Amino acid sequence: MGNNLLQGKRGFIFGALNDMSIAWKVAERAVEEGAKITLTNTPMAMRMGTTNELAEQLNTIVIPADATSVEDLQKVFEESQKYLGGKIDFVLHSIGMSPNVRKKRTYDDLDYTMLSTTLDVSAISFHKMIQVAKKMDAIAEGGSILALSYVAAQRTFFGYNDMADAKALLESIARSFGYIYGRSKGVRVNTISQSPTYTTAGSGVKGIGNLLDFSNKMSPLGNADAAECADYCIVMFSDLTRKVTMQNLFHDGGFSSMGMSLRAMNQYEKGLEEYTDEHGNIIYG
Ligand SMILES: NC(=O)c1ccc[n+]([C@@H]2O[C@H](COP(=O)([O-])OP(=O)(O)OC[C@H]3O[C@@H](n4cnc5c(N)ncnc54)[C@H](O)[C@@H]3O)[C@@H](O)[C@H]2O)c1
Repeated sequence: MGNNLLQGKRGFIFGALNDMSIAWKVAERAVEEGAKITLTNTPMAMRMGTTNELAEQLNTIVIPADATSVEDLQKVFEESQKYLGGKIDFVLHSIGMSPNVRKKRTYDDLDYTMLSTTLDVSAISFHKMIQVAKKMDAIAEGGSILALSYVAAQRTFFGYNDMADAKALLESIARSFGYIYGRSKGVRVNTISQSPTYTTAGSGVKGIGNLLDFSNKMSPLGNADAAECADYCIVMFSDLTRKVTMQNLFHDGGFSSMGMSLRAMNQYEKGLEEYTDEHGNIIYG
């Protein structure tokens, strides 16, 4: 049940692909809290996923757009304002994709055209989105812009690959634009660094099952799930966080501050054999 935290607010949400998507849960919660929203995703995602079903459920529209296209983004802001009847109060960027990860290219054998795509889709699209919004003056005074990040921006995780670089850039864009947009319009720009979560994008991360288990065992509060992430997004969209900007906010059950936990240690104690190759050489993974 909602608490009317977003009563009277207008928002739009990028990245709801199916009912596992974090953006899907955020869209549902935003409406539950009294907001009017529009949705957007790529034409391909709309064919492959179930974004239209969510739009039907929430009685709204989906505006097809590729977040790397400035023209598409202009269209999204134009049509959303028209449909919602005014300036936008909050925006969620919930977009990530790495062709290198998809094609199993390792970090020491990256394809650079694919790296450009990773950075464009997963990070620069955030800059494009904010720049378009600012030029069109589409965000209301005191509005809130959020993107979703991961702790691999600060620490190295096996297999996260070039997405780590994309997340570092994404968080930097939030700081740089947060300063500029805060100064001129009081608009907040933040990133939420979420626990590993089982979604379509999440399942592309190498060894996601083990990663989920490890981070759950390392976190005093356990992993945060997509619905809990949605709760945090709602607070960040609401007026309760008017003075929070340019931050990367960890929403990870405490994982990012941990070194070793009792539960992880207990798991580790079950086997101390070295991880070796067929010649008995230690694999430093
Ligand atoms: N799942 C996790 O473990 C996890 C953890 C931390 C952060 N995140 C981040 O959360 C965000 C949402 O991912 P998710 O886990 O909900 O997965 P998801 O696969 O449900 O969502 C990813 C979305 O990105 C969209 N997308 C891809 N290319 C696009 C483009 N060019 N233009 C517009 N949209 C495009 C997809 O269509 C999809 O809707 C991503 O930024 C992801 O990196 C996920």
